[in-house]
Amino acid sequence: MYLLIPAAGSGKRMGADRNKLLLEVRSKTLIAWTLLAAEAATAINWMGIISQPHDWDDFKAILADLKLTKPVEFIPGGNTRQESVYNGLQALPESAKQVLIHDGARCLATPNLLNNCAEAILSCSGLIAAIPVKDTIKIVDASNVVQSTPKRENLWAAQTPQGFDVKLLKQCHAEGVRQGWEVTDDAALLEKCGIEVQIVPGEETNLKVTTPQDLAIAEFILSHRE
Ligand code: C5P
Repeated sequence: MYLLIPAAGSGKRMGADRNKLLLEVRSKTLIAWTLLAAEAATAINWMGIISQPHDWDDFKAILADLKLTKPVEFIPGGNTRQESVYNGLQALPESAKQVLIHDGARCLATPNLLNNCAEAILSCSGLIAAIPVKDTIKIVDASNVVQSTPKRENLWAAQTPQGFDVKLLKQCHAEGVRQGWEVTDDAALLEKCGIEVQIVPGEETNLKVTTPQDLAIAEFILSHRE
C-alpha cells in the first residue's frame, strides 16, 4: 500500500519557529514517530513525505538515523494541506491503485490502525479513521450565537489515516480546484462529489499534535507504550 504523509505545515499554532514535526517527544521528532509507525505497518510498502523543500535536509537527516527499509520519496508541499495532498497524488507511481493519506502530525497512530485502513480500502472507494465524539457539538454563527445542536450519536471525529481509490481521489481533487472548494480533509472532497466514505474505528490516542499541550499529552501516551 502507498502512503502519503502531509508534513508541509508550519509551527504557527504550536508557537514554534519551525515545522512542528521537527519538535521532539521522548527524544524523537514527531515525523520520526510517524515514519516508525509506517515502517512497522506490514501493509505499507512505499511512503511519500510531502513537505517544504527548506525542511528536506532536516527530514533526510532524520531518515538516515531511522534506517527504514521501505522506499521514501520527497514531494514538495503546497500552501494548504489540500494543495499538499494534490501534489502528493501527482507524484504517486503509476502502479498506485489505492492510497492511504496520514498526517505527519498524527504521530501516535499505531501500525495496527494503518494496517486496518490499508486492508479496508481494498474493498471500498474511500474511508476515514474516526471515533465517536464525546462532547456535545454546537453549530455557531459569526456572532458566536448557537444555532443548533446536532444529535451526538451521528457525530464522529475524523482522523487520519484516510484511504482512497487513487483515480477517484484525483478526480475529486481536480473538481475541488475547478469549484474552489476549500476542505480540511480529503474525504470531504469525495462527500462533495457524492461518493460514499466508510468509517474505520480510529484510536482515542491518535491525536493531531497541534498545540504545546498536545506535546505533553503525546509524551504521556508514548511513555506508557514503551
Ligand atoms: O496544520 P495541521 O496540523 O492541521 O495540518 C495537518 C497536516 O497537514 C500536518 O501533518 C501538516 O504538516 C500538513 N500540512 C501540509 N501542507 C500544508 C499545511 C499542513 O502538508 N500547507
